[in-house]
Amino acid sequence: MKAVLMKDFGGAEVLDFEETDDPIPAAGQVLVDIHRATVNPADWKVREGRRRDAVKAAFPHILGRDFSGVVAELGDGVSGLSVGDAVFGVTDTGQEGCYAERLAIRADLCGRKPDAMSHAEAAALALTGLTAMISIEEYLGLKKGETILIQGGAGGVGNFAVQFARHMGAHVVTTASGRNHDYLKSLGADEVIDYNETDFTEAVSDVDAVYDLIGGEVQVRSYGVLKSGGRLAWNAPPPAGAEVGRDDIEVLHPNVARDGKYMRRIAELYSDGAIRPPEIREMPLSEIRAAHELSATGHVRGKIVLVVR
Ligand SMILES: NC(=O)c1ccc[n+]([C@@H]2O[C@H](COP(=O)([O-])OP(=O)(O)OC[C@H]3O[C@@H](n4cnc5c(N)ncnc54)[C@H](OP(=O)(O)O)[C@@H]3O)[C@@H](O)[C@H]2O)c1
Repeated sequence: MKAVLMKDFGGAEVLDFEETDDPIPAAGQVLVDIHRATVNPADWKVREGRRRDAVKAAFPHILGRDFSGVVAELGDGVSGLSVGDAVFGVTDTGQEGCYAERLAIRADLCGRKPDAMSHAEAAALALTGLTAMISIEEYLGLKKGETILIQGGAGGVGNFAVQFARHMGAHVVTTASGRNHDYLKSLGADEVIDYNETDFTEAVSDVDAVYDLIGGEVQVRSYGVLKSGGRLAWNAPPPAGAEVGRDDIEVLHPNVARDGKYMRRIAELYSDGAIRPPEIREMPLSEIRAAHELSATGHVRGKIVLVVR
């Protein structure tokens, strides 16, 4: 098969689109012919060597955490899926391998792709949806009528988060540069703050929940806009050694566990019209270096989706 092989830690030049061996599905796994994969910021962070504790990369390593494709082969003991089924999903924690024409993955991590959902849409909603649902529902425990501030609404996770929080009945405030305001309002944001023009700490206060997708000083400053008893969940870290400085709020770092049940939920939300796909920019898998450089700008609206076949 063709795949993107990461030969070392480093810049985008360590990625080469080459021929390599097909994976072989173990017991409980399926072999998937991948149609679309996506670029997540974690990919270039792993490439740069910043995640050595989380991903044990033996070179050559194949990056990529989410995909949509078609089951090509069943490993021993797999039931409930058949060859030819269209599926999408997220690789197990610490595992990668979606920048490739084929992937061997535990069958129970896959969800069936609805017919109406394209492979590009399914891949774009997989890790983003999983992350946003776990963070907002399970960690923040967001309730109807509460106000949530979502830092970074225009990105891959953010656009799902805005729609999901709105679907849960929350009042949704989010931050983005001015060019993304109409987009975010179309996804259901009640208020959008242009972080280049307005200091968000002057625009909002006493919110019930903050979902932080930006991290750093943005997170530290977000502690102050929570009401007493408020909760903040983050997927992008605060600065090293940062102090919360308040004992009346909760700061949570969600463990984004993998499970096919979340893919089934994404499919339902999509089919019910509660979640629509993000803006998608498709790039061929062979142009992975350019795709990484684009993602690393930190200003992609929606998702970069890799066309595999
Ligand atoms: N399992 C996990 O824990 C997990 C899973 C997924 C993601 N993450 C992490 O979560 C973070 C977000 O991921 P993502 O995929 O959503 O990233 P992304 O798609 O690359 O986010 C890009 C978006 O961030 C916005 N942005 C940049 N600076 C901003 C600022 N100062 N304030 C508000 N918005 C800003 C940009 O909008 P503008 O152009 O308008 O600035 C852009 O649309 C990353 O750090 C990622 O590594 C963690």
